[in-house]
Amino acid sequence: MTIDFANLDKAFKAHEEEFKNATSEVMSSARYILGKETEEFENNLQEFVGSDYALGCSSGTDALLLALMALGIRPGDEIITTPFTFIATAETIAFVGAKPVFVDIKEDTYNIDFSLIEEAITEKTKAIMPVSLYGQMADMDEINQIANKYGLAVIEDAAQSFGALYKEKRSCNVSTIGCTSFFPAKPLGCFGDGGAVFTKSEEIYEKMKAMRVHGQVKRYTHKYIGMGGRLDNLQAAILNIKLKYYDKDMERRQVVAEKYTNFLEKHISTPIVKDNRTSVWAQYTVKVKNRNQVQKSLKDLGIPTAVHYPIPMHLQECFYYLGHREGDFPISEKCANEVMSLPMNPYLEDEEIDYIISNLIKLL
Ligand SMILES: Cc1ncc(COP(=O)(O)O)c(C=O)c1O
Repeated sequence: MTIDFANLDKAFKAHEEEFKNATSEVMSSARYILGKETEEFENNLQEFVGSDYALGCSSGTDALLLALMALGIRPGDEIITTPFTFIATAETIAFVGAKPVFVDIKEDTYNIDFSLIEEAITEKTKAIMPVSLYGQMADMDEINQIANKYGLAVIEDAAQSFGALYKEKRSCNVSTIGCTSFFPAKPLGCFGDGGAVFTKSEEIYEKMKAMRVHGQVKRYTHKYIGMGGRLDNLQAAILNIKLKYYDKDMERRQVVAEKYTNFLEKHISTPIVKDNRTSVWAQYTVKVKNRNQVQKSLKDLGIPTAVHYPIPMHLQECFYYLGHREGDFPISEKCANEVMSLPMNPYLEDEEIDYIISNLIKLL
């Protein structure tokens, strides 16, 4: 048996006619950047998330950049975040000239440990950027409480958690700004790059809207330094269709995850979802001590796996200038050495899941 990690081809085939019709309409309309489909998508997004404002943009990375820029983050500022994430989180902070200040994670959820945040706050701190890793949100109540106490903004990096719930509220709707990604392999993925930002603040929304188009408030009138960060109509047309079926996709991901957990939890460290939260299972990630060997053996059996992420941010060469060393964030380092993600997508067949489970158990 050969298993596909993401099954993107099946995701296309599931609604092929609808995708073809919608994209063909955009192509023949000759309106490619922003416009009807993007506006419709933004309305759908806003309704789905329950935020006051939603804005499509060119990627999850640009969503984070727009958020940082709209908050006026500048050189000398400090942003608190996790070292156990995809590079874009810390990279965008550095890109606007600010300093990423890392705080270690909790081993059970892989998300930032809120109990370590206060000691990392200085007079330069402007925001906290928790990441909702693998599909589950961090301890947002505690994080928001700390942010309120010190007058800080909270930017949720929700690239992996679009649709997840925290006490009945959707990811992207529990912070100053929520940022997500529609990269193809994300739970809600388009057929290229795409992202979105969400906020309750009209002022921040207007700023991000202008900054998405080079800080332009009127044609060729630029109030802010901005960027070329627009979502294109082809992606918006695809996402409108995908969003219609997203509840069903999330349900199936949940079924796959439950099946994995039921059979694997006796044998291996399986993911933990906290009370009052859901995960959208961007990844189903277990911990294994002899990871290389297990990955190789699974690969030989046609079972692909992935490591998200093998090197924490503080040990990446691009962040050597921050002066960290091994041992600074021990939980992140331990997880980076042990995590392994199993195939996870709504198109996995039951027999494929059984095949993955039984072979993995044999190798442990
Ligand atoms: C945690 C996290 N942040 C940011 C991003 C960036 O999103 P994009 O790839 O759409 O730029 C990703 C996507 O891989 C991510 O996983």
